[in-house]
Amino acid sequence: MSKGIILYKSKYGSTKKYADWLTDATGFDCFETNAVNAAKAKQYEKVVLLGGIYASGISGLKFLKQVAPDLVNKKVAVFCVGASPYDKKQLAQIKERLLKDALEAVPLFYGRGAWNEEAMTFIDRTLCNVLQRSLAKKDPSTYEPWMAALMEAKGQKSDWTDPSCLDPLIEYLQD
Ligand SMILES: Cc1cc2nc3c(=O)[nH]c(=O)nc-3n(C[C@H](O)[C@H](O)[C@H](O)COP(=O)(O)O)c2cc1C
Repeated sequence: MSKGIILYKSKYGSTKKYADWLTDATGFDCFETNAVNAAKAKQYEKVVLLGGIYASGISGLKFLKQVAPDLVNKKVAVFCVGASPYDKKQLAQIKERLLKDALEAVPLFYGRGAWNEEAMTFIDRTLCNVLQRSLAKKDPSTYEPWMAALMEAKGQKSDWTDPSCLDPLIEYLQD
């Protein structure tokens, strides 16, 4: 496999776990997004961003958008990490909404992360509680998969991280 760079942004550690597993599997160099700039990223033929999903945004995507003009003709991929179970339709919707313009041809992969309200910042925990309270007023049969997962996770501590989630991305990164 030719040399690539793994860029990640992780608040609670799940995305970092995937970045470490991907580093072991590929031998690519690995950095947090805030430790690199466009000049560094463009030295590589393959660029992978890994970021947690937060209220439907992907951490670190802002950095990838900034460096996108320098990555023309490179193999670029995004791997996002969320609490919901894998759902093809939902992933396609996230891709359509977030990977636009210069990132339109970039494939989006998914790995399931973790959920631990005790470890969350006060603001994150409050946000999740507000969302859970508003979802509790809805009919559960109308929930999207991420809504059902959020309601199931309430008060639970779960870690769904699994290195096999990286297999499709590793296959894509092969020469
Ligand atoms: C405030 C907040 C918002 C979140 N929003 C989503 C979401 O929209 N979809 C999802 O699947 N997971 C969501 N999650 C769960 C995180 O994506 C999940 O915990 C992931 O493992 C975090 O990655 P990290 O450990 O690298 O920070 C949210 C978590 C928090 C705290």
